[in-house]
Amino acid sequence: MAGIIERYRSRLPVTDDTPVITLNEGSTPLIPAPVLSRIIGGDRKVFVKFEGLNPTCSFKDRGMTLAVSKAMESECRGVICASTGNTSAAAAAYAARAEVPCYVVLPAGKVAAGKLAQALVHGATVLPIEGNFDQALQLVVEIAEKEGITLVNSLNPYRIEGQKTVAFEIADTLGCAPDSHFLPVGNAGNITAAWRGYRQYHEEQVIDSTPRMYGCQAAGAAPIVHGKPIENPETIATAIRIGNPASWKGAVEAIEQSEGEISAVSDSQILEAYAHLASKEGVFCEPASAASVAGLLARHREGKEICPEGGIVVCSLTGHGLKDPDRAIDGLDIPEAVPADLDALRKRMGL
Ligand code: F0G
Repeated sequence: MAGIIERYRSRLPVTDDTPVITLNEGSTPLIPAPVLSRIIGGDRKVFVKFEGLNPTCSFKDRGMTLAVSKAMESECRGVICASTGNTSAAAAAYAARAEVPCYVVLPAGKVAAGKLAQALVHGATVLPIEGNFDQALQLVVEIAEKEGITLVNSLNPYRIEGQKTVAFEIADTLGCAPDSHFLPVGNAGNITAAWRGYRQYHEEQVIDSTPRMYGCQAAGAAPIVHGKPIENPETIATAIRIGNPASWKGAVEAIEQSEGEISAVSDSQILEAYAHLASKEGVFCEPASAASVAGLLARHREGKEICPEGGIVVCSLTGHGLKDPDRAIDGLDIPEAVPADLDALRKRMGL
């Protein structure tokens, strides 16, 4: 399947002169989650949009294909971003494809191993700083401007434009808009983008309704929920460990205009949803992704409205579980080897 620029060309800011730098991103599966549907009840159908199946294993590829393509259309000396990991992995891959240098500034010691490996193998210059994502973002904004390097964080408008295609895909697959859409919120670009996509399809009368947008922040990194920046955000969901989101306004607009809500989920709720997805639905996402499902389960437990009976709920699963192998095996016992014979194997299997 072609990438998002070819598939949604007429709805994106590209021309015939735009070189398309693509890894055939998008077209990710919208997977039914039958156990979650049963838990929520009322004949509601829960789907997960598994963005971990993009080429660099996160939703960032949708925005990065457009940001890097547009950068190549104008003069581009290189690209730079701050990142909690996934943006840097995507930037590094698309920059490699475009044959331009890539610089990534990361909070030292707070990026999952798989993401760090991706930035390195794709040949980016990796610059860990003794600071958090918010500080990294401030630094790259300044360097990008002073050095004439293209910023590919979501302050770059093409990132949001590319990412809005997730809403198009969901609506195209369902044949309508879902009733509710739950997303993890970090720097808040994704919820801003998805809402823009639904609004555009609605204006073009492709869909006749728009979903309520439910943003889910980690409790230790929930500036929008608290209405003020958090100086030292903390959560096990390192991808959304952000205290001062760049697209704050876009997130608030999405929530207000769609009559949704932004809420905080604790690390233990995130881990519970993460384990549920892997062990009950067969979908392995990274911890930050599971914040969307944690938010859905929390609303259900609190008896809050989710959607009408028989309605459709979509949860964005933004990144793949294999990105963060340390979290995956943390607390699990790695089984000891057994002798290579049938009896020993039978015994271990409890047969
Ligand atoms: N889920 C994952 C897996 C992410 O990597 C991110 C953001 C989010 C959710 C939140 O999306 O920022 O648009 O609200 N990761 C960024 C990064 C910050 O640098 O990779 P958002």
